[in-house]
Amino acid sequence: MRVPLLDLSRQHAPLRAELDLALARVIDSGRFILGAEVEAFEAECAHLCNAAHCVAVSSGTDALLAAVMALGIGPGDEVITTAFSFFATASCVARVGARPVFADVGPDFNLDAEDALGRVTPRTRAFLPVALFGRRGDVARLAASGLPVIEDGAQAIGAADLGRGAAMATLSFFPSKNLGALGDGGAVLTDDAALADRLRLLRAHGSRPKYTHHVVGGNFRLDALQAAVLRVKLPHLPSWNARRRANAALYREALAGVGDLALPADVSGHAWHQFVLRTGRRDALRAHLRERGVESEVYYPSPLHLQPCFASLGSVAGDLPRAEAACREALAIPVHPDLDDAQKEHVIASVRSFFSP
Ligand SMILES: Cc1ncc(COP(=O)(O)O)c(C=O)c1O
Repeated sequence: MRVPLLDLSRQHAPLRAELDLALARVIDSGRFILGAEVEAFEAECAHLCNAAHCVAVSSGTDALLAAVMALGIGPGDEVITTAFSFFATASCVARVGARPVFADVGPDFNLDAEDALGRVTPRTRAFLPVALFGRRGDVARLAASGLPVIEDGAQAIGAADLGRGAAMATLSFFPSKNLGALGDGGAVLTDDAALADRLRLLRAHGSRPKYTHHVVGGNFRLDALQAAVLRVKLPHLPSWNARRRANAALYREALAGVGDLALPADVSGHAWHQFVLRTGRRDALRAHLRERGVESEVYYPSPLHLQPCFASLGSVAGDLPRAEAACREALAIPVHPDLDDAQKEHVIASVRSFFSP
């Protein structure tokens, strides 16, 4: 049996006719960038995420970059973020000439608020926590400092209260995300009308009207084709996330007490983008699963503070021991909503047989 980490063909099969119609509608409209399709998606996404404004952009990476730019962060500024995330979480800070300041993580893999607060200096301009694997971090605690928070919600669309307490939350519609486009896409959520306006300006080269540039922005625009696809998929997100949650609950029950496994906690509102367990024998478990047709993935094999491009920031191995341990021990197993019962049973049996041959 084969159990892929993600099965988009199963997700798309029942939606295929609707997707074809949506794509045809955009082709016939002749409007391919922003426009009515994107505006309609923004309204629907804002409603689903309980945000006053949704500004759709070209990717989750550009959502982060636009958010950092919207706060006017630049050279000489510092942004405190997690060492255990996808690269874009930190690169958006470096790309505006500011300094990413890395903090360690807690047992939930998320930014440790205590450690992050301890790294505040007079140059700190914002916190950038990540709702890693779909679970929100302690945004309220960070926001209580008075500094703005940008919540990287790339993996957490549908998580309860995403963005609450934050100035902005960002989303990614990379195809493998809980809500995936047929290509790249992203969005920034905010309740602040002035920030939303700034984001819209930045998204289109800072121009308003066309050819009058108030600020140096970028081309962060979402394609109408992607917006049309996302509009077909968005209504299904709550039920897809519910299936992820049920799969996670099944794993938690079936794998409790197995070997040295540490299982992710079942906190309410979790979007379960990934089910990430920990074991001191991670690589051997991964090989065992591969032999049985079960795909798994290492998110992330090395921490951000030790990436070669950040060497000039001066971090060395051992600086953030919990993030570094997570890189050695964490393993994501398939939790996607299109798993069938036999596949889930096979995942469980395969994990169990590694620890009790
Ligand atoms: C935590 C996190 N931040 C940012 C991104 C960047 O999103 P994108 O791939 O849409 O640029 C991703 C996804 O790849 C992510 O997982």
